Amino acid sequence: MPAPPPDARSFLAEITAIEPCGADAVLLRARPERAMAPIRASRFFMLKLLDGTSPLIPRPYSIYRQRNGELEFLVKVMGQGSRALAAARKGQELRLIGPLGNGWPTLDGEGLPWVFVAGGVGSAPFPMAIEQALAGMDGRAAVDPGSISLLFGAANRELLYDLDVLRSTGVRVHAATDDGSEGWHGNVIELFEALVAKGELPEEVRLLACGPDPMLEACSELAERRGLECWLSLETVMGCGVGICNGCPVMTRPEGPLGAWPNAKCCVEGPVFRADAICL
Ligand SMILES: Cc1cc2nc3c(=O)[nH]c(=O)nc-3n(C[C@H](O)[C@H](O)[C@H](O)COP(=O)(O)OP(=O)(O)OC[C@H]3O[C@@H](n4cnc5c(N)ncnc54)[C@H](O)[C@@H]3O)c2cc1C
Ligand code: FES
Repeated sequence: MPAPPPDARSFLAEITAIEPCGADAVLLRARPERAMAPIRASRFFMLKLLDGTSPLIPRPYSIYRQRNGELEFLVKVMGQGSRALAAARKGQELRLIGPLGNGWPTLDGEGLPWVFVAGGVGSAPFPMAIEQALAGMDGRAAVDPGSISLLFGAANRELLYDLDVLRSTGVRVHAATDDGSEGWHGNVIELFEALVAKGELPEEVRLLACGPDPMLEACSELAERRGLECWLSLETVMGCGVGICNGCPVMTRPEGPLGAWPNAKCCVEGPVFRADAICL
């Protein structure tokens, strides 16, 4: 029996650069074998090396940048999969499946200001969000740089990946660190409240957040308490990335817009969810 045709979303790329980023991550750039259409920020790819060093199951990574025909990923070293990617060499082949998932909602300049909340490597879906918001998305008005605030938190300054690059975009960037080594001494939620109290952030904003689960829970709670619209990009553990394995369930809120399924698949219905649609 002939083999089934390969999934059109699965393709090869040649690694063109790997550079260290922060204390424990790398920026991995790869040139796909075929040209790719522009990718919406916060969509993702499943990545795997073909030299036997990657685990059998590929790992999900947000698109970090798409430039000059190349795709870039911010990879924090966690375990076998990310260790293999970080140790890869220029010229090696990378297998990608994607782009997958839904991405951020349309970031328009027509309503309330946007506040992007990033925790550690959860900053990955924001450089392109900033780029796309400033350029204008889906035919809607572009966002003025002064109407985007990025609140970027991490344990210490070494984990504020690419902070200078984010600052150079022209949007308002506020750092927060647990140890006080950069910016606000504390977490991003406290920083948000402090900026609002000082009048440096308006009370009425739209929130996007990506980071560790406790930060997302706190963001969701903040949005509920203040009656703010909020979208969360989840980094759920995944198996297939394409809706087959049921390895990425996210419990939905019965009273929320997705109703009581009771589980949505993060890889297909997400990774971006409205905060009032899911239980964390
Ligand atoms: C949609 C999506 C986008 C992502 N984007 C990025 C990105 O841009 N950059 C990035 O560095 N990471 C990103 N991640 C997380 C990344 O996929 C995991 O860190 C990676 O799968 C770890 O694989 P590993 O083999 O290195 O570690 P494993 O051996 O699988 O795990 C090592 C340790 O990390 C823990 N772990 C694994 N995955 C996660 C997770 N998702 N959250 C918390 N702990 C975890 C495990 O429980 C274990 O303790 C994303 C995840 C998703 C679902
Ligand atoms: S990762 Fe397989 S269904 Fe989502």
